[in-house]
Amino acid sequence: MDLSGKVVWITGASSGIGEAIAYKLAKENCKIILSARRIEELNRVKENTKLGDEDILVLPIDLEKHQNASDWTQKVIDKFKRIDILINNGGISQESFALNTTESVEQKIMNINYFGNVALSKAVAPIMQQQQSGKIAVITSIIGKFGLPRLSTYAASKHALYGFYDSFRLELKSDNIAVLLVSPGFINTNVTLNAVTGDGSSFNKNSPAQENGMKTTVFANKFVSALKSNSNHKYIGNKELLSIPFKTFFPNLFYSIMLKMSNNKK
Ligand SMILES: NC(=O)c1ccc[n+]([C@@H]2O[C@H](COP(=O)([O-])OP(=O)(O)OC[C@H]3O[C@@H](n4cnc5c(N)ncnc54)[C@H](OP(=O)(O)O)[C@@H]3O)[C@@H](O)[C@H]2O)c1
Repeated sequence: MDLSGKVVWITGASSGIGEAIAYKLAKENCKIILSARRIEELNRVKENTKLGDEDILVLPIDLEKHQNASDWTQKVIDKFKRIDILINNGGISQESFALNTTESVEQKIMNINYFGNVALSKAVAPIMQQQQSGKIAVITSIIGKFGLPRLSTYAASKHALYGFYDSFRLELKSDNIAVLLVSPGFINTNVTLNAVTGDGSSFNKNSPAQENGMKTTVFANKFVSALKSNSNHKYIGNKELLSIPFKTFFPNLFYSIMLKMSNNKK
């Protein structure tokens, strides 16, 4: 798939993975829509892309307010008249044991990571159906394939994305719309720093897994290669990706090792 001239909407574009993808796609001559909550960070990313105003739109959105997904989509259509690629990347992590997590925090995580993500795809897919072309890329996680302590709702939200998009892909195929699921391992971003705790406050600490993780520039290069390909699913990360075949072929041993490695102290 040649990306030049394509209209690409990136959520979670104000930092981390989404920001790095924006820079890579700007170099591929895409027209870009940058979305997240923090408008000043989106404007900083816009400046860094060096794209002219005619080729980039800053569109602040809060995925928790996903009932507005159609209005957001209309703003993109008003400017660019089409949407070739939606990259559903915006998300939030968790740092709390399930028993210490309030239901409103569980709902917040599910609203952002699952319902917000799905609502945006459901608003954009009819546009792609009219075009008879398009691609929806979704950033899930290796934590969508297994669980870890302190990540129960996050893991649930990322598992749910696999279920929804594996089904949606089949429904959209006849309209020439592709769905790409991408599962990062550990990527060097502030995702843990920005995580919510059980009472909804910010965790505000980074984790060694992310600090030692793959650089976002490396991730963005691999992600864009996957976007150009016909892949349905791609894992991107380092040695932590070995967890996936290990869980598949040795599930009981996998859980014993995970238990030993987990920071499971209450
Ligand atoms: N880093 C990793 O190791 C890793 C591994 C697996 C999966 N992932 C996934 O990768 C995606 C990007 O995360 P990241 O690692 O780049 O971390 P990050 O730097 O914290 O980025 C998260 C992005 O999501 C946006 N976001 C959060 N809440 C939002 C809301 N309510 N509405 C709209 N946007 C919202 C944030 O922007 P605002 O705060 O400005 O809204 C930010 O742009 C997430 O879905 C995450 O689960 C990350």
